[in-house]
Amino acid sequence: MADWWKKSTVYQIYPRSFMDSDGDGIGDLKGIIQKLDHLAELGIGIVWLSPIYDSPNDDNGYDIRDYQKIMAEFGTMGDFEELLKQVHAKGMKLMMDLVVNHTSDEHEWFKEKPEYYIWRDEPNNWRSFFSGSAWEFDPSREQYFLHLFSKKQPDLNWENPDMRRAVYAMMRWWLDKGVDGFRMDVINLISKDPDFPDGPDGDGSKYFMNGPKAHDYLQEMNREVLSGYDIVTVGEMPGATVSDAVKYTAEERREVNMIFTFEHMGLDQASGEKWDLKPLRLTDLKFNLEHWQQALYNKGWNSLYWNNHDQPRIVSRFGNDGEYRLESAKMLAACLHFMQGTPYIYQGEEIGMTNVQFEGIDEYQDIETRNMYEEKRSQGVPHEKIMESIYVKGRDNARTPMQWNAEAHGGFTTGTPWISVNPNYSIINTTNKDDEKSIYQFYKKLIEMRKTMAIITHGNFTLLHREDENVFAYKRETSDEKLTVYCNFSSLQHAFPMPEGERLIHNYDSLESSETLVLRPYETVAFHKRG
Ligand code: NOJ
Repeated sequence: MADWWKKSTVYQIYPRSFMDSDGDGIGDLKGIIQKLDHLAELGIGIVWLSPIYDSPNDDNGYDIRDYQKIMAEFGTMGDFEELLKQVHAKGMKLMMDLVVNHTSDEHEWFKEKPEYYIWRDEPNNWRSFFSGSAWEFDPSREQYFLHLFSKKQPDLNWENPDMRRAVYAMMRWWLDKGVDGFRMDVINLISKDPDFPDGPDGDGSKYFMNGPKAHDYLQEMNREVLSGYDIVTVGEMPGATVSDAVKYTAEERREVNMIFTFEHMGLDQASGEKWDLKPLRLTDLKFNLEHWQQALYNKGWNSLYWNNHDQPRIVSRFGNDGEYRLESAKMLAACLHFMQGTPYIYQGEEIGMTNVQFEGIDEYQDIETRNMYEEKRSQGVPHEKIMESIYVKGRDNARTPMQWNAEAHGGFTTGTPWISVNPNYSIINTTNKDDEKSIYQFYKKLIEMRKTMAIITHGNFTLLHREDENVFAYKRETSDEKLTVYCNFSSLQHAFPMPEGERLIHNYDSLESSETLVLRPYETVAFHKRG
């Protein structure tokens, strides 16, 4: 099987917030075309576009009205074809977002093919990911339909073979146009327990995450569509464990190439609820990633990510977005990119963009955030307390526009942006990307190493200094090479015995001492040894 995607780095674009070419305040396809060199120079192999299809934008394009039409605000099919051509001309591949757990309620299927959706006379107690019940009453049908996300995102009924055939035909249509793969939105939620039992406290996840036929459907999709093309596939899979991941990604099972785990993203959460915060313990993160690295070794394949359009900015989350922003952004990059798997960079991560704090809820656009705010307010939770959790976990942290330069709105638009730009754009932007010491150049080096150093693709993984609460250190080994990576996740100094080998990459100019490895705040250094 072709596995070019094992050495490639993916760059995720959230089109609405990337680059606006026509001054309407909304990013678009022509804007992306203008900025392709930013990605090509970085060494990106695969560009992943969040949804660009026709949509009423209840959930910014994750509610699709027409799978084969481009969202008018983003441009035309002609613009898309031009984008695809230019991505290929620059030696990159294009991965599309495939959202087939649900459609928009404005999709024509919802009116014309109700059997493609999930209906019940009585709702069960499942709660939607976006607050409230997961069921909505439809007066014309006098029945409830299931929506695990917003009520404008009805879930598709994968039990229906005609629906599945229609989805596969749509996928082939895009692949025949020349796209190079799919990121599959919440694809492990497509099979629901047919009895729809109530869940504990309204949490139905064990009845719809990795449901009874999830693997059958993916294998069918692979047979009917994926196997006919040389492409890359990644399944977004909340609630997938390591053993699920082995099943989804083992080559011989023919499902998907890799999955997005959520486990490491839940470690700063005190309960099943994402807004319930607790500080990260570094050992939890280390043990979790070790588990994924080791369990998938020679059995499946990992995706490596810190960020996407649903997660807060990593430098604010696990790093230090004040005094040590540069150091910690680079440290986090090295920590992730030297592991085994395919790394994903989310727009702005390569320049160390940070979380944002808007004062009022009205400045927030995200449906998940707004619904949660309303629900909590109605339960009497004070405004300040809710805002605190939004500042830490809200999805709009990742969705403020890309900061290109220090001009108005960070150079993202000449109009009024659909969501405000982070006020720190005059300091954090792409204009210094050619400086030897920029975060961008650091990423560029890592991406290049992944292409040329087999040990990063193939080496095994061993955690070092396991119990250390501040430093994440590991080694990768093959029969004739060794790579040792040290990452200080704290602003304190720590000392270790000096590892063997030559310095490969470092976020400080030189070592503090030649005898022992003294790690300064957020210092990262990797050593490489042959033989
Ligand atoms: C996961 C996507 O990443 C998120 O943005 C979206 O809201 C849900 N799936 C529903 O499609």
